[in-house]
Amino acid sequence: MIEIPDNSAEHLALLDETAASIKEAFGDIPEILVVAGSGLGAFGERLENAKAVSYDKLKNFPVSTVVGHAGKLMRGTAGGRDIMVMSGRKHLYEGVDVRVATLPLQAMLRAGVKTVILSNAAGSLNVKFAVGDLMLITDHINNMFKNPLIGPNLDDMGPRFPDMSEPYNRELQKVARETALDLGILLREGVYWGNLGPSYETQAEVQMLRQFADAVGMSTVPECIAATHAGARVLGISVLTNSLVLKTDAETTHEEVMETGRQVSDKFCNLVSTIISKL
Ligand code: HPA
Repeated sequence: MIEIPDNSAEHLALLDETAASIKEAFGDIPEILVVAGSGLGAFGERLENAKAVSYDKLKNFPVSTVVGHAGKLMRGTAGGRDIMVMSGRKHLYEGVDVRVATLPLQAMLRAGVKTVILSNAAGSLNVKFAVGDLMLITDHINNMFKNPLIGPNLDDMGPRFPDMSEPYNRELQKVARETALDLGILLREGVYWGNLGPSYETQAEVQMLRQFADAVGMSTVPECIAATHAGARVLGISVLTNSLVLKTDAETTHEEVMETGRQVSDKFCNLVSTIISKL
């Protein structure tokens, strides 16, 4: 596994080396990047004219330790636009340095990405939300006790103390709301709480978190910080795969879960590609 040098010039050189390997594989990089979260790989599979390169073929990309989840970087058309998709991401609970986890995203930003659509699977903390709902992330709380900007600042990327008063771009949120309305897709909104994981929340933690947030997950926050630092626009969408606050006695079968996953995936892909068509 790569190590982040304790020197900003060398760190930047590592990002540029990674960006060069991305460009070598894909040519000039389009401005829109979608990070497809857990279970949302279908988004990449639906790209038209797709080209995919597995992370282990790209320089400095950390490869997931989870078998079958190596991850791949893709380029193709969605919503009529040429975009990049990162299918699979490194999670901090895998034990990786936060700066290694965000290195591929930062390299994509170096390579020319200006708009980042972050998606994730999350647990609902809001009693009004149902399993399978989509949630527009309006803000987040970083409880991961990790920040990708620690260490010497990369002045070429952004400022030492970046403003985080609008981590999720308001204009993009507006486009997402309008698109959902047009498509008849219910789009919830709320605050995403980032936990390190990998253990799920205890009952006491759920009771605490629900005071402050609407969904909880184990990703997105570091990427949002890194993208905001670099001046990129960020849109965040959570798929609420489970509810931590609604109890149901109904039996859940594997088939039902798979079917719900497929339905949510359709809805998610449709929403995101239509948003992209309007950017
Ligand atoms: N908690 C934390 N992360 C998650 C959850 C959850 O309930 N569901 C999906 N990711």
